Order: sequence, then structure tokens, then C-alpha cells
Amino acid sequence: MSTESAPVPDVSPVRRLTVTDIARMHADGGRIPMLTAYDFPTARILDDAGIPLLLVGDSLGQVMLGYDTTISVTMDDMLHHTRAVARAARRALVIGDMPFLSYATPKDALANAGRFLREGGAQAVKIEGGRRSARIVETLVGAGIAVQGHIGLTPQSINQIGKVRVQGRTREQARALLADALAIQEAGAFSIVVELVPEQLAAAITERLRIPTIGIGAGAGCSGQVQVVTDLIGLGDFVPRHARPYAAVREAIADAARRYAQDVAAGTFPGPEESTRMDDAVLEQVLGRATDDVADDGSGRGLPSGGIPLDRDL
Ligand code: KIV
Repeated sequence: MSTESAPVPDVSPVRRLTVTDIARMHADGGRIPMLTAYDFPTARILDDAGIPLLLVGDSLGQVMLGYDTTISVTMDDMLHHTRAVARAARRALVIGDMPFLSYATPKDALANAGRFLREGGAQAVKIEGGRRSARIVETLVGAGIAVQGHIGLTPQSINQIGKVRVQGRTREQARALLADALAIQEAGAFSIVVELVPEQLAAAITERLRIPTIGIGAGAGCSGQVQVVTDLIGLGDFVPRHARPYAAVREAIADAARRYAQDVAAGTFPGPEESTRMDDAVLEQVLGRATDDVADDGSGRGLPSGGIPLDRDL
């Protein structure tokens, strides 16, 4: 008999990451990858791939719901998708993006952030805006809610900004962005998304903060990066300059749809391997065509005496 013991299966439960884990990753000098997610299957794949932060972004409006901007996205939209992502993610820290006007007052912010945690299953929320949002961030953090800030291009302000463009190029804008980042840090946020900012400025902001910056279109000097998952996998119909597609899912889906349609037209889908058969004798009985079921009325036709009546028998 072998004296070697069988390998012990790893049954340790997957542990949910917390903001403390994110702070530790940052303190250890690790760069933090974050992705958006909007649905169960994609979130499960990203979680299994080890992505530590999943953002249910309000980019949902554009990339999943077909709106032009994020302005139309509602709390109900966000909660619906946050629940799906939270059900899928076993390890990643799930962040719910607070939609336009859902945090206009501290009271609204508390109520809606509470919904993200209680009803959506998120572990944190994200809020756009620098100094203008600092009081809201402070209120939420004071209530025990983990908050991620978001400065630079803030898509919910698109009607003030005019169009999607790089922020912080001038001296005044750059100073304002640094002040925004510091205000959000001092308000207690655990990290800050920095969107569409020149890379030198984003790196300078990162150097001056204790908390991690998560860049998108802000260069490699941030503490981490975030991408919209549809850009990452090549699902959208256009790729922003700051994104790098790592897969070509749009082409893969189109190719699958075309080949499927061809097979249906040719009658080659489904084939024997995608179909099931029953005992032919049972079918004969069901249709009343078995010898025992056929009554002889003398006509020589043989009428079914049992089974499922066919139209011609009625
Ligand atoms: O809504 C979103 O997807 C975002 C990311 C781009 C950071 O805010």
C-alpha cells in the first residue's frame, strides 16, 4: 500500500477583496487593473481572471443601452446591472457608479449609495467631481461607505464640458485638477479615477497622493488602469484612442451569426449531435399507426383507434 497521502483539494473559500487589500496592493507598489462589467457572464469571466476591481460604470448607458451619453442612466438601470455583476463576482470588489443627479445632495447621496450596497450588492460606489463633490464623499465615508472619486473628464458634466476632450492642459486647469484630487483624498475616498488627463499631469497627481489613482486615457504613471470592457474585448463599433483591444469579439459574434444562419438555411443545423431521438415504435403508437391500434372498417384504409388524432382524422 502506498504511504503517500492523496493531495488535499484546495477548498478554501474565495475571499472578497476589500479596500484594505487595494490599499495594500498600492503600498506594495503593484499596479491595479480595473475593468467595467455590466452582466453576469462577463463579470464571472473577469472575476475568474483575477481582476480585483469591477466597476459597474454608468458607461452602461452608451455601451449596453444605446444612449448617446450617460445622462439618461437611472438608479434602476444601475441597480439591475450591479445585482448581476455582484452575483457573478466572488472575489472582486464591486463598485457601483452613482448616476447623474443621484448624489446632488448629501441626503440623496446617502439614500442612493445605500441602495447600491443593500440592493445592488456592491462594496463601494463611485462619484464624479473633485472639490464640488468633496462634501458628498465625506458624508458617505462618514456613514461607512467606501467611495472612489473620479476627476478629469467627468462624462456626467458633458453638457458643461461640451465634448469629450483631454482635461488639464492649461496651467489653471492642471492646478484645479490637482486641487480636486487632494480634496477627494482628504474627503476619505479609497481611490480616484483620473480620466483623459495628460500623462505628465496624471503622474504628478499620483505622486502627490497617498491613495491610488486609476487612470483611463491618463498614461502609465497612474497607480492602476481602468478600461471599458467592450473596448478591451473589441465589442463596440469604435475604439477610443486610449483603449487597446485585446480581443475581436465583435468579429467573432458576426462570424458566428453568419455561419449559423447559413447552416439553418442549408438544413445542417441542428444535426444528429444536437438532436434527440425517441423509440420509433412508441411514436407509431402515439400517432395511432401501430398495428394493434388500427381498426378495420372494411374500407381497407385502416383508421386509427387510439393515439393523437391527426387533422385528417378529425
Ligand atoms: O462609467 C464608466 O465606465 C467609468 C469609467 C470610464 C471609469 O466611469
